[in-house]
Amino acid sequence: MDGMNALLTRRSIRIFRPEPVEPEAIRSLVEAAMYAPSAGNQEPWRFVLIQDPATLQAIATDHPYASAMESAPLAVLVCAATRDLPHPDFWGVDCAAATQNLMLAAHMQGLGSVWIGLYPKRERMATLSRLLHLPEDVEPFALIPVGYPLERPEQPERYHPEWIRSERWFDAWTFGRQDLRAKAEREEAERKAAATVKRVDSGLHD
Ligand SMILES: Cc1cc2nc3c(=O)[nH]c(=O)nc-3n(C[C@H](O)[C@H](O)[C@H](O)COP(=O)(O)O)c2cc1C
Repeated sequence: MDGMNALLTRRSIRIFRPEPVEPEAIRSLVEAAMYAPSAGNQEPWRFVLIQDPATLQAIATDHPYASAMESAPLAVLVCAATRDLPHPDFWGVDCAAATQNLMLAAHMQGLGSVWIGLYPKRERMATLSRLLHLPEDVEPFALIPVGYPLERPEQPERYHPEWIRSERWFDAWTFGRQDLRAKAEREEAERKAAATVKRVDSGLHD
């Protein structure tokens, strides 16, 4: 699957087959997450791999929107080690980039996943911190149940050209290529006009 196809076809998966996720696949998901961009390359992310059915079930019970944990053979907790970060305000954004990388890597390998939101909901974060014994300076960010999909959600239409503006808010963007072609034609006309003026100035006009 090429990258663009992966971006457009990833969907949230909340029902999974019971087969476990192979260790090599798990490793590659976390590797993909670790290659995300982060502020000043501070790499705040840490990962807790959860495969114990009792823990998966406990989280499903405690979190109001985590029913996907019930059938998932694996969940990855993306969290941030926040001590001494050079750009502490950015750890959430950094972890979001890592989470998206992880989910796309899962999809590219035929695995399904869904983003279960924790940060910035303090109550949900506290529940996870308690259940998984996180130290004080480690903040839970998101939970990602992962497994082989047992559902195939529809592909939505999400491209909205009217959400794209050109240069200023009130100017619609038509299509990049057309803009570039119009610019090239304008520049060519200006170049010809300038050359004509030069020839007139030097008496070479025909
Ligand atoms: C920050 C964030 C929090 C989310 N929290 C939950 C959640 O708690 N439970 C859940 O089932 N899905 C959750 N989702 C998944 C969204 O519902 C899903 O991404 C959205 O409906 C779009 O569908 P898609 O992922 O198939 O494109 C969350 C997604 C994001 C980005």
